Amino acid sequence: MFTKLITVDPHQPDLEVIRDATKILRSGGLVAFPTETVYGLGANALDATAVEKIFAAKERPANNPLIVHTATVAAARELTSHWTEQAELLAARLWPGGLTMVLPKRDIIPDNVTAGGPTVAIRMPDHPIALALLHEAGIPVAAPSANRSNRLSPTTAQHVLKSMSDRIDLIIDGGPCLGGVESTVLDLCASPPRLLRPGLLPPSQIEAVIGPISRLPSPENDSARTISRSPGMLKKHYAPSAPLECIADSERRVRESLSQGLRVGWLVFGGFSGMEEEGLEMIVLPESPHEYAAQLYASLFHLDEAGVDRIFVELPPAIDEWLAVRDRLLRASER
Ligand code: TXA
Ligand code: MG
Repeated sequence: MFTKLITVDPHQPDLEVIRDATKILRSGGLVAFPTETVYGLGANALDATAVEKIFAAKERPANNPLIVHTATVAAARELTSHWTEQAELLAARLWPGGLTMVLPKRDIIPDNVTAGGPTVAIRMPDHPIALALLHEAGIPVAAPSANRSNRLSPTTAQHVLKSMSDRIDLIIDGGPCLGGVESTVLDLCASPPRLLRPGLLPPSQIEAVIGPISRLPSPENDSARTISRSPGMLKKHYAPSAPLECIADSERRVRESLSQGLRVGWLVFGGFSGMEEEGLEMIVLPESPHEYAAQLYASLFHLDEAGVDRIFVELPPAIDEWLAVRDRLLRASER
């Protein structure tokens, strides 16, 4: 299959391209599109055969359920058997945005979308291209991040092309994603609601709307053991090819590895000034958690492309603002 890549102005999405993409989705094909978090790989969420193609293209295990995207709250409500008051409040205040809500599903959703489970994850993305596509298609769109399973999520169309070329019908290139880290996944079937995956939307914004949520995923309380509740919470995930280590005293380890003749990628942030050494690829990321997140995956892709043997990362502080970034870095460092 030849993968088409079309560039679209994110501020003014070309309706003709959106219509072509809609046709592909409606006939059971796969379209990658930008969202405010990362690029998604979309298929008609009501068509089990189309959804199956997502799993094949990503080489994703069937026990990892997909997020369904809609353009309106009404369309989201249609996918659930019980739209709770908390869901209503959160949708009104925080959608469109980087929040995914897990709710009891309705039967119209094929089993492969939810990995056979009784719940469905739903979100309304905050991106003009994604919203135009969802509006025009008029169907819910299942869309995981557009990468091969367990690898880095794509924040540019070029990242998508590298892993999905010849596996999908179309990539809509709307430029780099501004958020850079995946949505926050919140389980509204639990009481209090439970954070399943830290992400773009900080927990404080959720708590400002519905009160306290349980912050730490607690697999030991997990009744639905047959499907893995949020494989984004699997230990190893979001990983570059080179082994990655998060450490406090990174300079010593960097120098040590360089002296062993290794090619080293070094990710630091804030007040660091650059350092030049043979075999070293150093990237200084911004001090603000939001700007850091926006550049994180692209930086790791860059280090992979540069062919480094090791990546060392100076870990940001353990405070809420850095929750999603630290989560992704620590998962990337698992072997
Ligand atoms: O920002 C995002 O969420 C992006 C964009 C494209 O929207 N999508 C994304 O999808 O990151 P994916 O498939 O890479 O991650 C979805 C996460 C996984 O951790 C999955 O296990 C969890 O959501 N998930 C999906 N359905 C679920 C359900 N019914 N119950 C619990 N977790 C669920
Ligand atoms: Mg993913």
